[in-house]
Amino acid sequence: MRVGVVGVGHVGLPTAAVLAHIGHEVVAMDSDTSKIAALKDGVMPFFEEGMAELVATGIDAGRLSFTDSAEVTVSGAVAAFLCVGTPPKSSGEANLLAVERAAEEIVKVATGDLVLVEKSTVPAGTAQQLTVALRRHRTKHRFWVVSNPEFLQEGRAIEDSLRPHRVLVGSGSPEALAIMEEIYRPIIEQGAQWIATDVATAELAKHASNAFLSMKISFSNALARLCELSGADVIEVVRAMGSDPRIGTEFLNAGIGYGGYCFPKDLTAFERLADRFGYDFGLLREVKKINDEAVEAVFKKIEDVMWNLQEKRIALLGLSFKPGTDDTRLSPALRLAEMLLEHGAQVVGYDPKANANAQREVPGLEVADDVYGALQEARCAVICTEWPEFAELDLGKAADAMAFPIVIDGRNLMDPDAMDEAGFTYIPTGRPPRGVGPHPD
Ligand code: UGA
Repeated sequence: MRVGVVGVGHVGLPTAAVLAHIGHEVVAMDSDTSKIAALKDGVMPFFEEGMAELVATGIDAGRLSFTDSAEVTVSGAVAAFLCVGTPPKSSGEANLLAVERAAEEIVKVATGDLVLVEKSTVPAGTAQQLTVALRRHRTKHRFWVVSNPEFLQEGRAIEDSLRPHRVLVGSGSPEALAIMEEIYRPIIEQGAQWIATDVATAELAKHASNAFLSMKISFSNALARLCELSGADVIEVVRAMGSDPRIGTEFLNAGIGYGGYCFPKDLTAFERLADRFGYDFGLLREVKKINDEAVEAVFKKIEDVMWNLQEKRIALLGLSFKPGTDDTRLSPALRLAEMLLEHGAQVVGYDPKANANAQREVPGLEVADDVYGALQEARCAVICTEWPEFAELDLGKAADAMAFPIVIDGRNLMDPDAMDEAGFTYIPTGRPPRGVGPHPD
């Protein structure tokens, strides 16, 4: 089938590559002409494991192409996937202008009946509003706005798009649902659950999923604070809890808080949506508060161990909001860097993929070319992102490089016994510290 994809960001590009991979003829469009030109040359706009290869295969097979023209995108297409950004307004509500503009542009030039697929995360009610807005344009062909939320995680976007747990589509039209089911048939045949609902339910399910996952993380972060006060070990507590299949262990890793471009903004947008309908979803505010406290707790540990922060060199290992990506948007590591810089510390970071993005966002942050360079003469190191290469550090070399061998593990990545044996003062998250001796200064 022929389909268009509008927007080649973190959702649009993996979607386009995977739709081409399962056999569709895909034209992906973006108004950013430099991105399109780069993609035509095989240069990806961001890092995602396996994406460059899948894009290249799609292009070589003649099933994937890139354009900045709406006409080319939609010519002969049965569906157009809207994957444009929905950034937060100052109120926290989602700004839907890009969705409206993209949909208008597409509908006006459609060459036949068209399913407009809302893939960007939008509040419940958007498809209905969009339908009303688009009907004002006297279009020659029929169109249906359906909701098809994306559940992929950055860092595993290709795998998640190829083998999702579910394909959720909301629409009141059996015709549109049939087209969507046909598009996703190869993925459904491989085991993904097909869930068809009304439009508002699908839209709401997306926000509800992200809010629930954020809540799980905040639960563990609150638990971590309590473990630190009581001497318990959060990892063991979660293991014990998670052995109950009703609870499970996933998304219960305590850390320096969730970040990225989805959870923080979606949680607030969901709360605003509830406000709009007159429901006070106070739980969501608490989730955010605990998340803010998670990074503040790490800052406090640094202060406790360093005393004065002025001019002290502190290394941050990991700058992206999670491993497997170069995305630093709303990364808690960068929030921590800003807090340290505000207190006069000298902050040096290292990330296997995100150094450039981090420096662009926080110009006062120094970045090192490798992990040992970041540790050089540092008085304290903080593990902010659980990149596998940090778990494989040569601990002797790391301790020798540092001015003081002090590690605050914001992601509980390291083995406490190994850290202790290597002579580190090791301060994990929600677990008992090791080797905490007298103040180094
Ligand atoms: C999240 C959802 O997991 C996806 O299902 C969804 O499609 C996506 O948002 C979206 O709405 O587009 P993503 O933001 O890529 O995906 O990243 P996650 O893997 O969910 O991690 C989010 C944050 O939570 C990261 O900062 C991560 O470090 C943190 N996290 C995650 C924890 O602190 N603890 C955990 O146990 C899990």
